[in-house]
Amino acid sequence: MDLTEVRERAREKMKGVCGVYKVCDGMPERLCQGIKYGKPIGIGGVSTGASFTANVEALDQFKLKTRLIAPHAEPDMKASFLGREVAFPIFCTSMSGVKISMGGGIIELEFARAVMQGCKAAGTIGFIGDGAETFEDRPGLQAILEAGGWGVQIFKPRDQKILLALIQEAEKAGAIAVGVDVDGAGSVPMAMKGQPVFRKSIEELKELVQSTSLPFIIKGITSEEDAELALETGCKVVSISNHGGRVLDHMLGVAEVLPRLVPLLKGNVTITADGGVRTGFDVIKMLALGADFVMVGREMIRAAIGGGPEGIRLEMEFLSKDLRKAMIMTGSNSLSDIDERIFA
Ligand SMILES: Cc1cc2nc3c(=O)[nH]c(=O)nc-3n(C[C@H](O)[C@H](O)[C@H](O)COP(=O)(O)O)c2cc1C
Repeated sequence: MDLTEVRERAREKMKGVCGVYKVCDGMPERLCQGIKYGKPIGIGGVSTGASFTANVEALDQFKLKTRLIAPHAEPDMKASFLGREVAFPIFCTSMSGVKISMGGGIIELEFARAVMQGCKAAGTIGFIGDGAETFEDRPGLQAILEAGGWGVQIFKPRDQKILLALIQEAEKAGAIAVGVDVDGAGSVPMAMKGQPVFRKSIEELKELVQSTSLPFIIKGITSEEDAELALETGCKVVSISNHGGRVLDHMLGVAEVLPRLVPLLKGNVTITADGGVRTGFDVIKMLALGADFVMVGREMIRAAIGGGPEGIRLEMEFLSKDLRKAMIMTGSNSLSDIDERIFA
């Protein structure tokens, strides 16, 4: 199996939901945006899709330049995430709701397994989301358990009591870390399925952080105000993300927001960024803008649907190979070398 085959299979299985285009940008003419107005959000962005598109456009604005006159060295892409060594700083981000969002080409547990096992085989870490559809079965935690705890669970901002119990379950599954996507408060699929989600106060977030021995992740930060408050909670990781443009229309692209938030967060917490990342060249841009780790969403859905764990492994291989190439061409020998000097 190769990535072309994976994408062809995904195109077949995701008919009517995702065109598996060369460019995944949520533009109005794309299949995912053409199914709006009362119909499910699918794999697209909320409303006009402007926040989804902004993620891709924000990354496109940054142009790379070469720096080649230097002694040759093999780029060192290895990184440590919460004490775990990974081969490169790219993760599969937290996603869920495959049946509602992704055309039913794969069931939730199969998706979670593909993410955990495929990422592990590639030498990196898979995150999993928390969906409305099969909430009772905890497919994410099941897949993490099966992967020997090698995975991260991000829960929706549900009722506090439910969340506290879920966090205990994540501990039992042996997860690397646990967290909440605070921007899930705007989740359309959760609302559709009658599973209430809420904004979380600083006190509630502190309670969640203190309830567990696992490192805690707050995902879905896009403002200075929230970044500063997130720091006060004692969380270990802040994920800069607009949920792939699925929760609020007309937001800035993540690559635009990231450099504003990095000075507030750097050195205090680990920073991840996601939104619009499609290649290893996008990855190096996010790293140069200050992310410690870069997460990938929609490409991973197509990889899982088209090829299961092997599809995810191949997609990770593709991303990391291009990151290596980008590092060689921009004169970056190690991850700590990557900064704004790579931009033209
Ligand atoms: C179909 C779909 C389902 C998602 N479900 C979740 C989820 O359950 N929890 C979560 O934290 N984020 C969820 N996200 C957001 C992703 O974690 C991530 O922020 C986003 O997909 C990154 O943008 P990209 O898809 O352009 O790479 C979902 C995204 C998609 C496309």
